[in-house]
Amino acid sequence: MTTRRNAARPFLIAPSILSADFARLGEEVRAVVAAGADIIHFDVMDNHYVPNLTIGPLVCAAIRPHVTVPIDVHLMVSPVDRIVADFAKAGANIISFHPEASGHIDRTISLIREHGCKPGLVFNPGTPLSCLDYALPQLDLVLIMSVNPGFGGQQFIPYTLDKIRDVRKRIDAIGREVMLEVDGGVKVDNIGAIAAAGADTFVAGSAIFGAGDYAKTITAMRAELSKAVTQ
Ligand code: DX5
Ligand code: ZN
Repeated sequence: MTTRRNAARPFLIAPSILSADFARLGEEVRAVVAAGADIIHFDVMDNHYVPNLTIGPLVCAAIRPHVTVPIDVHLMVSPVDRIVADFAKAGANIISFHPEASGHIDRTISLIREHGCKPGLVFNPGTPLSCLDYALPQLDLVLIMSVNPGFGGQQFIPYTLDKIRDVRKRIDAIGREVMLEVDGGVKVDNIGAIAAAGADTFVAGSAIFGAGDYAKTITAMRAELSKAVTQ
C-alpha cells in the first residue's frame, strides 16, 4: 500500500543499506523490498568528502539483479563527475551529489541526465539553499540532510524542518515534479512531522535495518504518514 502525499505524488520509503548487514547484502535488499520499501538508498562515502568509506559501483551492480525498485545513489564523494558513468552502468536510477563536492553544478547535473539517471542535489544542514535559485528546474530530486553526512545512527537536527518547508515552497512555485527527500535520523516518531513539513521521500537506515522486523517498521512509518496527510 502506498500512502499518498497528495493526489499527484506518493510518499516513498527509502531504506539506507548503510545499516544493512554487508555480508548478506543481496538478501538484505530483497528482504527490505519484500517488507514494503519503495526505493533502495545507496550511500557512497570516499574518506575525503566525508570521514568514512563505504561502497562503490561494483556493489551497486551486485545488488541490481536482486531488486526491481529504483536505486537512489547518494554520492558523498569529491570529485563527483568521474564516478557518474560507473554508477549509471551499475544500474543506478537516481544519482545525487553535494554542491560543495562539484566544481560545476550545472555540468554535473547534465552529466547525470546524459547517462540516463535522474539528478539530485543534496544540502547539508548548514549549506544554504541558494544554488536552487537556478538549479531547481534542472533537478528531479532535492535531498535535505537532517544530520551531517558520514555516519548512520545520528540524531535528527530539528532546524532542518524549516529547510524542508523552504524547499517545498520552491518546488510548488516552479510547478514541476521534483522529489523532496530527507536523510538522517528519520524514525517512526518523527516521520509524520517531516512529511508535514513537505517531504515526500524518507531515507531511514538504522530505524529500519536496526530493527528486527523490517515490515513492522515500514508499516508503522506508513501509518504515521497517513496521519500526517489527514491532519
Ligand atoms: C548519512 C547517510 C544516511 C544514513 C542515514 O551520511 O547519508 O543515508 O544511512 O542513517 P540513519 O537513518 O541511521 O540516520
Ligand atoms: Zn544518504
